[in-house]
Amino acid sequence: MENEFGGSWTETKIEILEKYTFAYLTIMNKYPFHITYFDGFAGSGEIKIGNEDDYKVIEGAAQKIVDIGSPRSFDIYYFVEKDETKKQRLEATVKSKRSNNVFVVAEDCNVVLERLAGFLRKNKMRRALVFLDPFGMNLDWSSIENLKGLGVDLWLLSPTGVGANRLLKKDLNISEAWWKRLEKFFGIDRDLITKSIYKEEIVTDLFGSRTIITKSSKANNKLFEIYTEKIKTIFGLVSNPYVIVNRNNSLMYHFFCASNNASAIKIANDLVNKHNKKI
Ligand SMILES: C[S@@+](CC[C@H](N)C(=O)[O-])C[C@H]1O[C@@H](n2cnc3c(N)ncnc32)[C@H](O)[C@@H]1O
Repeated sequence: MENEFGGSWTETKIEILEKYTFAYLTIMNKYPFHITYFDGFAGSGEIKIGNEDDYKVIEGAAQKIVDIGSPRSFDIYYFVEKDETKKQRLEATVKSKRSNNVFVVAEDCNVVLERLAGFLRKNKMRRALVFLDPFGMNLDWSSIENLKGLGVDLWLLSPTGVGANRLLKKDLNISEAWWKRLEKFFGIDRDLITKSIYKEEIVTDLFGSRTIITKSSKANNKLFEIYTEKIKTIFGLVSNPYVIVNRNNSLMYHFFCASNNASAIKIANDLVNKHNKKI
């Protein structure tokens, strides 16, 4: 019942989040804020690393975070996992580690993020650390937009390579359903996506001239660039990404922090830069 297989990058991603959370709690320990930890795609609590024949099972991010109790804990832990079976499994695990102030719900993260925003908006002393780790493109731009102006630090796994770039066909022959999915995820109009990633060229041969469409070889970077520009309209600051590639060195994900706080971004950059060097 664990989540699907992850690579060694899964462990690094969790390690970055854990270290950031410890730094966050250390800073927050000096202030009288009410702090919430929110995990919107929380999983079952365990992850398999490797493949069907050869794997190990590790603790997922949720378990690691509820374990951190020093220098302080969060006031509230809120976990969202859409799959009821995984939710039940996660709930049993995290509640066995921490009995108070832990909430686990089986809902769509996009719906619950709206409620989180309402909760934070009600009281200026409320802050939140939000971790969004979707499998694919199941996070809506409008959910991130809800967090504008709130005291939120966000860590987001963007499926720039495995999700978005795969939908952007070389010849721009993209179905209406795929365009809608891309627009809903990035919150960016298809014209801007097209303009940033494709170009028209006129090719001339013996039979005359024709126009061909080519996709940029840097499509992944361009997508990430336009996405982070968009995120900066909500949070102001975005860290460098931890760049996650597969065995063939193709980009899968960008994992990064967005915040309104410069110290948060500095801590995130230090963590990310240290791990990127190992690639
Ligand atoms: C990559 S896994 C999360 C792994 C987790 N962060 C960990 O460290 O163990 C993504 C999870 O999100 C869940 N999920 C997918 N769509 C969702 C949605 N719209 N709302 C909430 N959960 C969703 C999936 O069932 C899956 O368990």
